Amino acid sequence: MKAWIALIGIIAAGGALAGAPLVEVQLPDGLGPEATIGKSVYTAKCAVCHGANAAGQAGTAPPLIHRIYEPSHHGDEAFQRAAALGARAHHWRFGDMPPVKGLTRGDVAMVIAYIREMQRANGID
Ligand code: HEC
Repeated sequence: MKAWIALIGIIAAGGALAGAPLVEVQLPDGLGPEATIGKSVYTAKCAVCHGANAAGQAGTAPPLIHRIYEPSHHGDEAFQRAAALGARAHHWRFGDMPPVKGLTRGDVAMVIAYIREMQRANGID
């Protein structure tokens, strides 16, 4: 019994470790051409905060594969604005998102295609 309680404690603590993914993301069977480019832009520019597969990172940034970021709540223009201008902390307690330098609107459109395909694979649309 004691061992079980200790084990559950370790698992709970592990889930809160800085850098841990915040949601479980199902990967789609494949990505379309724009989403494939978007994935590499995402990996270079966004994953450092939003984590691999946009699953979020404890202590750093929220998952983008999340109902909050579905198209009807955060449309594509919200992604363009966040990349160009940054975002004030308002949904979470991670702090502000700074603007991401070195991306064109076209680059961000590819990232959006990637995020939307990932969201759909997780029942978010
Ligand atoms: C330095 C860390 C960091 C990087 C790099 C980063 N983000 Fe963010 N992002 C955040 C944080 C933190 C938030 C949460 C703000 C909040 O509390 O609502 C956020 C929020 C967002 C939002 C929601 C904005 C809104 O209107 O609520 C979008 C969309 C987003 N990020 C997309 C991106 C994309 C796309 C990239 C890459 C081009 C990116 N982020 C790179 C930290 C980052």
